[in-house]
Amino acid sequence: MNITTFDFEEHGDERGILISLEEERNIPFDIRRCYFMYNTQPGVRRGFHAHKTLRQVLVCVRGSCKILLDDGREKAVVPLDRPNKGLYLSSDIWREMFDFSDDAVLMVLADQLYDEADYIRNYADFLAWVEKKNREART
Ligand code: TYD
Repeated sequence: MNITTFDFEEHGDERGILISLEEERNIPFDIRRCYFMYNTQPGVRRGFHAHKTLRQVLVCVRGSCKILLDDGREKAVVPLDRPNKGLYLSSDIWREMFDFSDDAVLMVLADQLYDEADYIRNYADFLAWVEKKNREART
């Protein structure tokens, strides 16, 4: 599976470190939404969905967590354990987030506003969706 991660440039000096995220510069889309998760309880696994069109970049700005990516054929786990690392998630990828540290803050940048109609929340529906898209791509 093709996985895209980013190493964001750190502007560091004796005061500390600053990272800037900008649309179409180090984030590969127009940022229309930002949301973040924290206080995630021990053992929680969340996500369990794919998107039909949404693109996202995930950054664990504090603490750590792991992201499972599944394209319907292959699965991969990407640890997010530093605030200068970004994980790009295209649409058509089933994702699950887990192994959150107590202090984890997982921030997500997205190229669209929240729209429940863009979600695929059932795994069998996801497999049927990617199969249909693969069939269409072959013709
Ligand atoms: P949910 O989709 O369950 O989160 P996840 O898939 O990451 O486990 O979202 C939790 C709640 O937050 C749900 O009621 C929908 C709401 N929500 C928004 O209102 N706006 C958003 O941008 C997101 C991502 C969720």
